[in-house]
Amino acid sequence: MFDALKSLASQIGDRRIEALFDENANRGPEFSLKAAGLFFDYSKTQLDEQIRAALLTLARERGLEARREAMFTGHPINETEGRAVLHTALRNLDGGPVHVDGEDVMPEVRETLSRMEGLAAEIRASDVTDVVNIGIGGSDLGPAMAYKALGPYCDGPRCHFVSNVDGADIADTLRGLDPETTLFIVASKTFTTIETMTNARTARAWLMDREVSPEGRFVALSSNQEKAAEWGIPPERTFGFADWVGGRYSMWGPIGLSLMIAMGGEAFRAFLRGGQEVDRHFEAAELHENLPVLLALVGIWHNQVLGHATRAVLPYDDRLARLPAYFQQLEMESNGKRVAMDGSDLPFDSGPVVWGEPGTNGQHAFYQLIHQGTRVIPCEFLLAARGHEQDLRHHHDLLIANCLAQSEALMRGRDLEEARGKVAGQFEGAELERQARHRVFPGNRPSVTLVYPQLTPEVLGKIVALYEHRVFVEGVILGINSFDQWGVELGKELANSLGPVVTGEADASGKDGSTRQLVDFVHLYRDGD
Ligand code: F6P
Repeated sequence: MFDALKSLASQIGDRRIEALFDENANRGPEFSLKAAGLFFDYSKTQLDEQIRAALLTLARERGLEARREAMFTGHPINETEGRAVLHTALRNLDGGPVHVDGEDVMPEVRETLSRMEGLAAEIRASDVTDVVNIGIGGSDLGPAMAYKALGPYCDGPRCHFVSNVDGADIADTLRGLDPETTLFIVASKTFTTIETMTNARTARAWLMDREVSPEGRFVALSSNQEKAAEWGIPPERTFGFADWVGGRYSMWGPIGLSLMIAMGGEAFRAFLRGGQEVDRHFEAAELHENLPVLLALVGIWHNQVLGHATRAVLPYDDRLARLPAYFQQLEMESNGKRVAMDGSDLPFDSGPVVWGEPGTNGQHAFYQLIHQGTRVIPCEFLLAARGHEQDLRHHHDLLIANCLAQSEALMRGRDLEEARGKVAGQFEGAELERQARHRVFPGNRPSVTLVYPQLTPEVLGKIVALYEHRVFVEGVILGINSFDQWGVELGKELANSLGPVVTGEADASGKDGSTRQLVDFVHLYRDGD
């Protein structure tokens, strides 16, 4: 499937990205795109007109346009679970009806949103000082990422996020909180996730140990309202969402409640509006001027065609510190699949490993490898034109300069001649040569940059929706189902069977030699001295 592109890749040889700028004075504007108020520059890659055209042809041949329409119109494109994929309906603020099985889902979406606003307003006006969201994966990463990202807009109660079943997480979170003024949100689509239910029980016990009744102190966010009721959270404190909202796509609805409480209903609507704007763009724009499509095509080019197995997400925006973790779930749980939709083996690589940290911190940690390591790591920079700290504008100017410097350095590199010049005064002869070689940067390393005006709720909504659709486009091209996650099941099942082995209620005889010896060593220390 990638033959034509691989043949174009092999023709590139040692062509320098810089040479593409020399050949075409207009390369910047021709290989960038402004849409939905965002600016996406992909000119510092090896893409040329021919490669871009071949990528667009591939997207068309893989049926992207029809698949996109099928998603927005509620067809069951999550084919292994028989579900529609309609997180877009959650942000369809002023759009028309959206049908699933002949029924318009929008009245219920709107009703839930307004119930959320009612509760958020009530809590913001109450004596609640702290909100603890208990959830994991898609029921944690989105709101946790957004709460940090939108700090300047959060004027409500403090929010905390407990996800890990490691007791350290909840213990450290609860320490110092006042049980009389703390509200718990149990966020779980299934309401069966072991980590979340364990943490929720611990939270309830924490209240009761302090003689505070749990009544009225818990809210449930779940598709499984029956389980929430069994757990003791009444329907009026439960916010449901349909099975057509995937966990990692769910922060736009009830799973975003903590964020709404923190910043208020109006700001939350601005977040939804941003997402909706990108939906409209993605749905209507021709493929060649479609931001999520181009972002996805660059990803396919780097991963499946050139074989670069990872991509670094590098926000030059400290408040986006949790964005790489959020994208890890979004991208790797969606496109980390080894079989195609029809169950056949995928004849090419699945989606890439996604990782990253905010700049400039990453520069002083792992950028060494990005610049001089033997593997090429395509980088994705995110940058706000304007910070929130207007009294610290000189910080922001430095931040911008650093971000731009990195993409320039990755592209240009430094050749041996230039490196020799750097050390000429200090060394001579063979030592000069040796020292110079350590200072060579091969360059020609690809990066893309997404610039946005400022990290507002609306802009964050745009960024998240952009990447959601990017993942969708890549999934369509790869022919996989981006909306299931069977790969997390086996570990969960084995953890259940190992629980009694760890506690000593069952022996480890059925387990392999490695697991047995690990359990033996744990048992030496598990109960202390
Ligand atoms: O284990 C993976 C997963 O199913 C994710 O897809 C999901 O976001 C997370 O667990 C949490 O699930 P739930 O919201 O049902 O507790």
